[in-house]
Amino acid sequence: MNIVVLISGNGSNLQAIIDACASKKIAGTLRAVFSNKADAFGLERAREAGIPAHALSASQFATRDAFDRELMLEIDAYAPDLVVLAGYMRILSPEFVAHYAGRLINIHPSLLPKYPGLHTHRQVLENGDSEHGTSVHFVTDELDGGPVILQAKVPVFDGDDEADITARVQAQEHAIYPLVVSWFAEGRLAMRDNEAWLDGQKLPPQGHAADE
Ligand code: GRF
Repeated sequence: MNIVVLISGNGSNLQAIIDACASKKIAGTLRAVFSNKADAFGLERAREAGIPAHALSASQFATRDAFDRELMLEIDAYAPDLVVLAGYMRILSPEFVAHYAGRLINIHPSLLPKYPGLHTHRQVLENGDSEHGTSVHFVTDELDGGPVILQAKVPVFDGDDEADITARVQAQEHAIYPLVVSWFAEGRLAMRDNEAWLDGQKLPPQGHAADE
């Protein structure tokens, strides 16, 4: 099972996946990491782990489609079974999404369908929500709208600031993202008819529910 990860920044989720591959919790090989930012720390993490690390700058391409086409070409050189978005902060072209349909997953820091888009932690605080969380989902054309595979919830406490809840959410992300990748690597997970399926069961809208 060939895995390719796309990042734009710190890459702590990438690190969790690198570690899970190294400890054989994921039955797959992380073939390459791509970033749209040359200075993304995640590229260092990849190099440190001996994984090919590539940066592609959008400024060198006239259009989003041209950038994504080159990205697809370079990704496909690694024959990926799964493409993992881990803090990849760039809108994908419909062509890219269609090309990797069913083998493209993302992690989004909210309990989807709540708070698609940016600044989720801030919105949780502004709205006085008592719970927050993160979602792993298949990617479709709808921004942060593809079928959810797994969510993790965290409490929000009085006096929390954005840094507090970001850290709490990220700790959960580092547990659930490698787990979902391991399910995919074991052939347990698929997307069919815009739904997520695990072990032959259609998952509910909130994904596989640990607390049900
Ligand atoms: C994560 O919180 C993820 O949910 C969001 O971007 C963040 C990436 O963090 N999509 P990192 O680069 O993995 O540390």
